[in-house]
Amino acid sequence: MNRTTVLQIGPLMPTLEAALREQHEVLTAQAPSAAAPLADMADAARVLAVVTSAPVGVPAAWLAQLPALRVISSFGVGLDQLPLDAARARGLPVAYTPDVLNDCVADLAFGLLIDGARRIAAADRFVRRGDWLQGRFPLTTRVSGKRLGIVGLGRIGQAVARRAAGFDMDIAYTNRGTADGVPWRFEPSLQALALWADFLVLTVAGGAGTRHLVNAEVLRALGPKGLLVNVARGSVVDQAALIASLQNGELGGAALDVFDDEPRVPAELLVMEQVVLAPHMASGTHDTRQAMADLCLANLRAGLTGEPLPAGAV
Ligand code: 8YV
Repeated sequence: MNRTTVLQIGPLMPTLEAALREQHEVLTAQAPSAAAPLADMADAARVLAVVTSAPVGVPAAWLAQLPALRVISSFGVGLDQLPLDAARARGLPVAYTPDVLNDCVADLAFGLLIDGARRIAAADRFVRRGDWLQGRFPLTTRVSGKRLGIVGLGRIGQAVARRAAGFDMDIAYTNRGTADGVPWRFEPSLQALALWADFLVLTVAGGAGTRHLVNAEVLRALGPKGLLVNVARGSVVDQAALIASLQNGELGGAALDVFDDEPRVPAELLVMEQVVLAPHMASGTHDTRQAMADLCLANLRAGLTGEPLPAGAV
């Protein structure tokens, strides 16, 4: 029996790669760098599906080299690296894995927030270095009852807000418009939200529309006691402005899961005690990654057979 040919772009989790290999002929391509074309591949004409991940995506230019393509199935919720317009123009379905990761991403956002305020990772380093023997750890910042600003009140932003309610926080958000049926205060101006908030959590989609949304002015408004938490995309923050504002004390601290040029983290951030760093791991639990893999495969199956996608973006 002829097995359908699938193009895998970049690495995927081992159980997902194994499931793909069990059911399909799998061709592989490196994660694309800038606008480099798909490496010469005689078999490209046979490719019926692309499987990729949200941070890696598919360059729009590759679609022309894949004439038989029936579906793009992406592992992750971010759409910023996917060629949505080109796919729409060609009537090509694009699938992703929303919802199943909301809780884990919100959990990590909250963990980073608490760490950023209470300095858990810094305190761990303090104990391991033996510094406790010389004196006490500096006082930190209270979390409960504080003002939380959420940038982007989608499914993940709402999961963050629900957690914050358990910490008796005063919650406000900014978004393209007011979100339906939520009890939290809508603040149309990001600048005003940052000025008001103690903690600003970014859960907005990445892409051209939100690039450098959080700029030097927003960081200044958040202020010397403020904490920025980013579980969205590095591109949402002007990283150079972030580094400068942390260096000159205009911003109190940052807790970051995402960066401009992952996995490279700027050297300036690596030495800052007021910064918590995580390796883009918000959805990275066994439970959630397996649920994402299952949905990615269900989307692939549906796309190959022309059925409606369980989670279609286009
Ligand atoms: C990645 C993410 O998919 O969902 C997203 O948009 O960025 C992550 O969940 C994950 O890191 C696997 O690459």
